[in-house]
Amino acid sequence: MYREQIVDQAAKLRKLAGERGVVIPMDSSVKLGDLDSQVTENSETKVRRQGKKPRFIAITSGKGGVGKSSLAVNLAIMLGKMGKKVTVLDADLGLANINVILGFIPKYTLQHVFKKQKTLGEIVVEIPEGIRIIAGASGFYQLANLSAEQREEMIDSFQDIDMGDIVIVDTGAGVSANVLSFILSAHETIVVTTPEPTAITDAYGIIKAIVSQTSDMTIKLLVNRAASALEGKKVADRVIAIAGQFLNAKVDHIGFIYDDPVVSLAVRNQKPFVLSYPKSKASSCVRSVAANLLNIQLEETEDPTGESFIQKLFGFLGRNET
Ligand SMILES: Nc1ncnc2c1ncn2[C@@H]1O[C@H](COP(=O)(O)OP(=O)(O)OP(=O)(O)O)[C@@H](O)[C@H]1O
Ligand SMILES: [Mg+2]
Repeated sequence: MYREQIVDQAAKLRKLAGERGVVIPMDSSVKLGDLDSQVTENSETKVRRQGKKPRFIAITSGKGGVGKSSLAVNLAIMLGKMGKKVTVLDADLGLANINVILGFIPKYTLQHVFKKQKTLGEIVVEIPEGIRIIAGASGFYQLANLSAEQREEMIDSFQDIDMGDIVIVDTGAGVSANVLSFILSAHETIVVTTPEPTAITDAYGIIKAIVSQTSDMTIKLLVNRAASALEGKKVADRVIAIAGQFLNAKVDHIGFIYDDPVVSLAVRNQKPFVLSYPKSKASSCVRSVAANLLNIQLEETEDPTGESFIQKLFGFLGRNET
């Protein structure tokens, strides 16, 4: 696998949106685990983005099981409710489960595209939840281990279809060539962590891997399963400070999601929590994250912390925390 090929793949997906010039430094010395090649871009690579749409947002994490797929589905539905045409791409190649969270059985998946039985356009489905899904497939070794050429072909095919305003790309966890290709192909990446030290360390690891490959990526941090707003903020502050200090990386805080039993209930019932529990704390948080992404100001009553302005003013929020 040649790194130019991955650069090319990233460039192709990026070309789908925006007009921003992309210059990425060469000569990264960071080793990316046991990848068979580095996923990087060279200084001559300048990509002119054409057209405006869609906006690709990758959702990733270092540690697995931190809530990426739940977030991808619920955030997409929330963005849909806010008037955006959203597509979710299940890019956890080999271990896909977006369709499981949504409780639908896709007729066709990326596996059919990979086998050339279907085109990408033919496997996109509009679901009643108001979003569109490109389903992945589970348990296929070939899909989990695409070659550079195969990835290129897949990313190429995204240009042929209408992906709407926003594409949420749910990646697998950790640093692999597949995951990094999708991240580098997006405009921005939401790195998900939980307050657990292992998740925080791994979030730092994936941020390091991203910034070692590109200086042109908007990285946003989301703290999932926070016990409180304060815990979410503390964790985010720590990761952002460390990334700034040791990696010289700018990471934005996009919000937090409460540890909320409705998330697991919703997965079990295969009905996204923003629909089945719209008034839950987790749903309020997702609403806030969606609003942040769209730069929309929410009403005071929609504040995900559930704390009133007066409480905040007098610092009760802080005093109630440990
Ligand atoms: N905010 C939350 N509150 C409570 N439980 C949560 C929350 N977010 C996620 N979970 C739990 O974690 C489980 C795993 O979530 P999910 O499948 O979205 O993680 P993932 O990061 O996509 O995992 P993988 O790395 O395997 O793809 C959920 O099924 C749910 O039980
Ligand atoms: Mg997942």
